[in-house]
Amino acid sequence: MRNSRIQARPTSGAVGAEILGIDLSRDLEDSDVEELRAALNEYGVIFFREQNLSPEQHIAFAERFGQININRFFKAAPGYSQIAEVRKEPGQKTNIGGGWHTDHSYDQVPALGSILLAREVPPFGGDTLFASMSHAYEALSDGLKRTLEQLRAVHSSRHVFGAASQYVKESGDRLGNSAAATQDASHPVVMRHPETGRKTLYVNPGFTLRFEGWTTEESKPLLEFLYAHASRPEFQTRFSWREGSIAFWDNRATWHLAVNDYHGERRLMHRITLEGVPLE
Ligand code: SIN
Repeated sequence: MRNSRIQARPTSGAVGAEILGIDLSRDLEDSDVEELRAALNEYGVIFFREQNLSPEQHIAFAERFGQININRFFKAAPGYSQIAEVRKEPGQKTNIGGGWHTDHSYDQVPALGSILLAREVPPFGGDTLFASMSHAYEALSDGLKRTLEQLRAVHSSRHVFGAASQYVKESGDRLGNSAAATQDASHPVVMRHPETGRKTLYVNPGFTLRFEGWTTEESKPLLEFLYAHASRPEFQTRFSWREGSIAFWDNRATWHLAVNDYHGERRLMHRITLEGVPLE
């Protein structure tokens, strides 16, 4: 970002940068969009402060980066089908996205990323963790890398968003349309990031069921090793929200986890998810 007023300040050694010097409520120049896209590719997730966008401005910002995916399981913000609500009320115990995952890996064409805007935050807690899957991949041994590069994995929405899911039962009216949770998808375990070309680990505890051609039991030990490895602190950053904060993450490059440590308080976020491309 040389010669630009936009600055990126990294938030950890592996993933995340806070972006300074930009007001997302105004019409962005093409060069601004290209700089932000480059920052997203470099850092995996970019953070903004004090961006109290209206829903229309949130949608307009997202549309500069791609086509919006209308979420089929989350309740929409009233009047805005493009915006999914990520809500926890004071009386609720279960939060949305409380385990490590990457959104939409159950789709054969997984989402590019999401733009999450904080509308109402608890007085403490409610942070979000992000982890870099390219750093996780690069830290593996050459032998395991070679093995993983030959594998594909099966991902599904059924066990998370289907009618039998405990998560759905506990989420009440925040999630719905469980009859649409029919997708199974197969992706390479190590994919080349569609924009950076960087090799990236693409399995996650939320949606990955097993390696293709392996049973669930056979897959479990290796998947559990990869999950423990990929969630090591040195691959992570942690974002503390304020009202008007935004996190824009790349689903192909990162995992995320919403920390559920604010029982008795309300947290309301607006999420817009962008369509992606097939992974290779
Ligand atoms: C999500 O998993 O998309 C929600 C993350 C958060 O609420 O921090």
